[in-house]
Amino acid sequence: MDYKKIYQNIEEYYSYEDKNIWRNKFHIEMPFGLVNDPNGLSYYNGEYYIFYQWNPFGCEHKTKHWGLVKTKDFINFTKPEIILKPEEWFDKNGCYSGGAYVKDDTLKLFYTGNVKDSNNERKSYQCMVDYKDGSFEKKGVLIDKQPEGYTAHFRDPMIFVENEIYYMIVGVQTEDLKGRALIYKSDDINKWSFAGELKTDVDNLGYMWECPNIIKVNEDKFAFMFSPQGLKEEEFKYQNIYQSGYLIGELNFDDVSLNNHTEFKEIDMGFDFYAPQVFNHDGKNIMIGWIGMPDKDDEYLSSEYGWMFGLTMPRVLEYKDNVLYQRPLELLEELRESKIMDLKNQYVDDYSININSRTIECNLDLDMNNSNNIELKFKFKDEYISILYNKEDEICTLDRNNMEFGGKGIRKFKLKANKSLKLHMFIDNSFMEIYYQDGLETTTLVYFPKSDSFEIEIKNSVKINELQIWNLRRINYGK
Ligand code: FRU
Repeated sequence: MDYKKIYQNIEEYYSYEDKNIWRNKFHIEMPFGLVNDPNGLSYYNGEYYIFYQWNPFGCEHKTKHWGLVKTKDFINFTKPEIILKPEEWFDKNGCYSGGAYVKDDTLKLFYTGNVKDSNNERKSYQCMVDYKDGSFEKKGVLIDKQPEGYTAHFRDPMIFVENEIYYMIVGVQTEDLKGRALIYKSDDINKWSFAGELKTDVDNLGYMWECPNIIKVNEDKFAFMFSPQGLKEEEFKYQNIYQSGYLIGELNFDDVSLNNHTEFKEIDMGFDFYAPQVFNHDGKNIMIGWIGMPDKDDEYLSSEYGWMFGLTMPRVLEYKDNVLYQRPLELLEELRESKIMDLKNQYVDDYSININSRTIECNLDLDMNNSNNIELKFKFKDEYISILYNKEDEICTLDRNNMEFGGKGIRKFKLKANKSLKLHMFIDNSFMEIYYQDGLETTTLVYFPKSDSFEIEIKNSVKINELQIWNLRRINYGK
């Protein structure tokens, strides 16, 4: 594989401004190739390390590497680097997802080596890498096989620590095709022993659980977040091919069980969100997800230009009322370049705002005391995406059917907004992230408008409590 050429292409790409109307301005994406899961998220030596699954050779799900960008502020990033290459016997068909842990002054990375042997049979190895003084060293295989009773769909190790013991959680599939997570234990982070299957009250929730995370949310509660595959669609749930969500409960480390836990709650109700990873820094649980969806490649038209998918902006998770609220990391306020709108207490009727950029942050608070139906439209000439809210039924509907290119359809979810409907939106050239009711729900989506023109329309007569819009700046790589 010609890595010299890849690095030349990276240099060349950042030497000019890409004018493609779908190129995002403030979301992490790659100059070329296919990006999926965030990996190894960590804060190390004063910088955020954001690794991700990357096929730098094309827009297909193969030859998965770990790419890396580093940043202090989510505005200035280092140029993408290739960190893990699939070139050893234990990872030759892909350096798959995993997490990181900072021990002493070493950043330790954990990943799954994916191998297809000569009969096309899958083997999964849990592996480790040390990063110190600017260089990475593959330490090889820590766990060479799944335990009895499970298939080789055994991947995505994440590390957490409790009472000075290291724990690793790994996603897996049972031989009777149920998704599960396994826990391993270690005193020194190098030698691992099997502690058991994570016991929950959930039995049938898909055939595979990918990308598990264990997150401490307060003194005695933990969230177990994972990405199950194979859930049946319901009216207000599970409308994507695969989901991501969590259970919150008490974690018993002796018998590795999650007790008194909540029902499975999806993290994001949009079209294009999967495989989130959470890390802790500065007392905050910070989550980044993949903007994309497996097995839907034909919806992502940017592949025509040689690139595909990206990552969400960092979101802080806060435990309240037994759910995780999400809010944008405070640092992101630095992205605001100029305020282009600021309204308070204004009655409007079919209000339309013409915006000359499609890279904005918008904070909207609508008074619902005298309104029942709200329709918000993001218009791109004759195409649009809409959000419909009905207060009485407490239903929010996101509709992408009026776009010509890319994925279509609607997503519906329950949402309470009695007094006011609050939307916090980050709209980029082909990605949108929307927070509802202070982050109780979010929707992430990809869209491919034909035109560069952009209007936001608020249908119906309604009182705007607050409306602020900022133009956001472009993030940069290696300047
Ligand atoms: C989730 C996933 C992981 C795997 C990786 C491979 O999107 O399928 O389970 O490690 O992607 O790229």
